[in-house]
This record gives sequence, C-alpha cells and structure tokens, in this order.
Amino acid sequence: MSKARIFVSREIPRAGRQLLEQHFTVDVWPQYAPPNKQQLIEKIAGCAGMVSLLSDKIDAEVLAAAPELKIIAQYAVGYDNIDVAEASRRNICVTNTPDVLTEASADFAFAQLMAVARRVVEADKYVRNGQWQVAWHPSMMLGYDIYGATIGIIGAGRIGQAVARRARGFSMKVLYYSSSPKPDFASETGARRVELDELLRESDFVSLHVPLNEGTRSLINADRLALMKKTAFLINNSRGPVVDEKALCQALKSGQIAGAALDVFASEPTPADNPLLLLENVVVAPHISSASHATRARMAVMVAENLIAFFTGKRPANLVNQQIFKAI
Ligand code: GLV
Ligand code: GLV
Repeated sequence: MSKARIFVSREIPRAGRQLLEQHFTVDVWPQYAPPNKQQLIEKIAGCAGMVSLLSDKIDAEVLAAAPELKIIAQYAVGYDNIDVAEASRRNICVTNTPDVLTEASADFAFAQLMAVARRVVEADKYVRNGQWQVAWHPSMMLGYDIYGATIGIIGAGRIGQAVARRARGFSMKVLYYSSSPKPDFASETGARRVELDELLRESDFVSLHVPLNEGTRSLINADRLALMKKTAFLINNSRGPVVDEKALCQALKSGQIAGAALDVFASEPTPADNPLLLLENVVVAPHISSASHATRARMAVMVAENLIAFFTGKRPANLVNQQIFKAI
C-alpha cells in the first residue's frame, strides 16, 4: 500500500518530522511565512492528511478544495482557525495538542503577569536608555504586589488550573469563573468559583484561559473592564478576540485598569501602529506562550502520533470532533 500524503504547513521540530517521514509521504511548506489561501488549497489537494498551524485559516472553501482530506492534525491546543463543523460534515477528523503545552503556557502567563505588575520590561528599557541617573529613590518604578494578591482565572481548564497552581506558590487568593464547577481543582488550590462580575470586581489580576468561540468573543468588553479595580491587571494568552482591543486600550489610557499583559491580539501579527503598543503599562509578546524547546518538540511528536493512529485505523488520542471517528 502506498503511503498517505501529508501536507505540513510549516517546518516543525525534527522529532515530529522524522516520525511523519517514517510513515507518510510528507510535503513541508519550506517558508517561514505561511502559505496564503491559494497556496494552501494547491498544497492540500490530493493530500489525505495535513498538519495545520493556528495561523492557517481552514474554512469551507479550503475544505471543499481537498476532497481526499481525512484528517487535520492541528499543531496547537486551540483550533478556532478551523471550521470544525464543516470538517465534521465532510467526515474529516480534527485533532489538537492539549496537555503537552499546559505548563509552558502557564509559565508564560505567569511570566507576563509578573513582568507587567513589577514593570520588568519598562525597567530594562530604563536602564538601557540611560534614564537611570539616580541610584535609588523610594518612589522609583513602583509596581504592584503579586504575593498575596487575588487572581481571577477565567476558564478553569488545563492551562487556567496550571496558572492557579503557580499563583498558590505566591500565596495568592484564587477565584475562578467556569461553566462547570471543578471540585478537585478547588480543593487543591483553594480556588473559589464565582460569577464573572464578582471575579472582575475582586481580582487584582484577571487571567484569560478560555478557547475562542461565539460565547467568548469580546467577553472582556468595555462594560466588564469597567468592573475591574483601577489597580488591576488583565493577562491574555488565550486568543486576541476574547478581548475588545479598542475598549481595552481606552481602559488602559483612562486609568480604568492598571495594565495589561498580552500574548495574543485581535489580528496577528498585530500592526506596529496598534495604539496599545504606545502604552507603558502594557507588556506584549508575539503569541509565544507554548514556545519552549521541549514543549514544541512534544507538540510535533503529538501531531505525528495523531496522524499515525488515524492511518493505522485507531482513534487519535486528541480527537476534537469525537463523533466523526465512529462515522468512518
Ligand atoms: C496556542 O495558542 C495554542 O492554541 O496552542
Ligand atoms: C534594597 O535594595 C534594599 O536593600 O532594601
């Protein structure tokens, strides 16, 4: 039997690529920048599987152009870039890479939280720019305490829970907002489940860990930002559109909230003239929460294992559209 053809939309870490090459005929997009829609359509025509990135928009038009496609193995935990309903309608399996990136993503959320609260990035620039003229002053670069503060976790899934565990190490009080109660999480971390408004009112740090869907789009809008304390910070390393960026910018400028740390944006890459980038009380990063060497290697192996399972007739471990596998 000939090997299945797999398109991989960007170079992935070697461990994953080697595994793929042992089992499939693999075509890897060679450029650093993604294929555009037309290129993507041309590349996946005739492929039985693909490895997608969160920056590949896989909509009905793309799927219609790939009649032989049976599985999309997403190299990310979030998969809002894929029209999963349409994929399911076409009996195409969709898999993702949960678990392996949980701790790296939580590390980064916490790193950004600490950076914005204690002005780490601003302080670095201050020293480099030669602004440090006086050795020490009681009011130089004052920030906000992390230890003992209250953190509100919106979306208590794997990553949200991992952030809460870090917060406990800093003796933080943990609140969470989630569609269902998480008793194990609550007893492990002392986290208390509250309504969204209460979380926003009470928290010194509000950290977003929800997937992007119609229920979470613009979840953090002007009205909700208005509930937050003037001394509070918003941390977002989930998906940009969960926050109304214009409203956030306004809230930051007017002093409605103290600051924000963002790894994700309404559109990515965010334009260099995004007004948020002019604000000192904002810490930004280019969507790199899962970007550690070890984590990215594990994600690459995981996408390969999902594809291998599928093409050997097994249910992929990280199937998103569970109902599809039975249907084939
Ligand atoms: C990253 O944003 C991911 O969803 O894995
Ligand atoms: C600060 O450097 C201190 O010694 O308090």
